[in-house]
Amino acid sequence: MVGRVTIRRLTDRREFAGLVDIQRAVWKHPDLDLTPVHQFCISTFMGGLVLGAFVDEELAGFVYSFPAIYNGKFCHHSHLLAVLPQFQGYGLGKKLKWAQRREVLKMGLDLVTWTYDPMQSRNANLNFHTLGVICRRYLPDFYGETPQLRLGPGIPTDRLLVEWPIKSARVQKKAAEKEERSLDLSFLPKALEGYRAEDGSYRPGPVNLKLKAPVFLAETVRDVRALQTVPELIGDWQSALRRVLNHYFGRGYAIIDFIFGEQCYYLIKQMPAGKTQKSGRPEVS
Ligand SMILES: CC(C)(COP(=O)(O)OP(=O)(O)OC[C@H]1O[C@@H](n2cnc3c(N)ncnc32)[C@H](O)[C@@H]1OP(=O)(O)O)[C@@H](O)C(=O)NCCC(=O)NCCS
Repeated sequence: MVGRVTIRRLTDRREFAGLVDIQRAVWKHPDLDLTPVHQFCISTFMGGLVLGAFVDEELAGFVYSFPAIYNGKFCHHSHLLAVLPQFQGYGLGKKLKWAQRREVLKMGLDLVTWTYDPMQSRNANLNFHTLGVICRRYLPDFYGETPQLRLGPGIPTDRLLVEWPIKSARVQKKAAEKEERSLDLSFLPKALEGYRAEDGSYRPGPVNLKLKAPVFLAETVRDVRALQTVPELIGDWQSALRRVLNHYFGRGYAIIDFIFGEQCYYLIKQMPAGKTQKSGRPEVS
């Protein structure tokens, strides 16, 4: 990609039309499922934030968040992040999220939340490994009957609610790219692991809900889009991962990292007492 990249805040309603075009190009949703211009107008007027990524003068992507309260704590909830397909993979998504962090810090807040589909491994890699979020909340079929948000016919719209503690030492290290990036953790116990079936498909094995280890892995698919022709296999992986995460979140564990490789794994860790979802107030450091 050739061109000068700039990130800047968008506040003018004439610029918001471009955000609708990007949503259409990225998600291919029908108009009813797009966030409209008037929502961006009122939301940015009332403390919301839209940052646009420009390549030269062309709007190539954006991130949108709004003020929210999570577990009694003021935060920003990041609802949309999108980069036009032709500009993906060049670092714009990362730049938008780090710029969002800087702006939300200026507002005096220390938490940004968002949701994403746990079967989308690239997004998991971005969220956990690159940005340093943690997750301790599973939202089964969160958007219900919205066909465009499903991974396939009849597949529930499960989401993970992630927390980005933007003032924490861990996120500061990620921002400075000082985090160790290539640890081999494949020796860890696994609550979920795939196996090659006789028909050649890669299937989820039995889930292990008896682990007591402080840290373990749960496998997920590397590329869920490659499974679009076999929605029942997506459903099997989704329900296995759902069982594992719901079970261990309820026992004080959280996802703290993601390993993206030939095989992809969530890294799940026991959180210190008082830092679990049950404590009511997230205190992430
Ligand atoms: C998600 C999205 C915004 C990322 O933007 P992008 O400009 O393509 O991403 P970047 O080039 O900045 O990469 C950011 C991180 O994403 C992950 N990532 C991107 N491409 C990847 C790939 N091919 N394989 C694995 N991880 C990948 C990595 O963690 C990467 O960080 P790294 O370069 O430090 O390893 C963009 O792909 C997009 O618009 N996707 C469709 C909409 C969507 O999924 N929105 C997010 C919902 S949570």
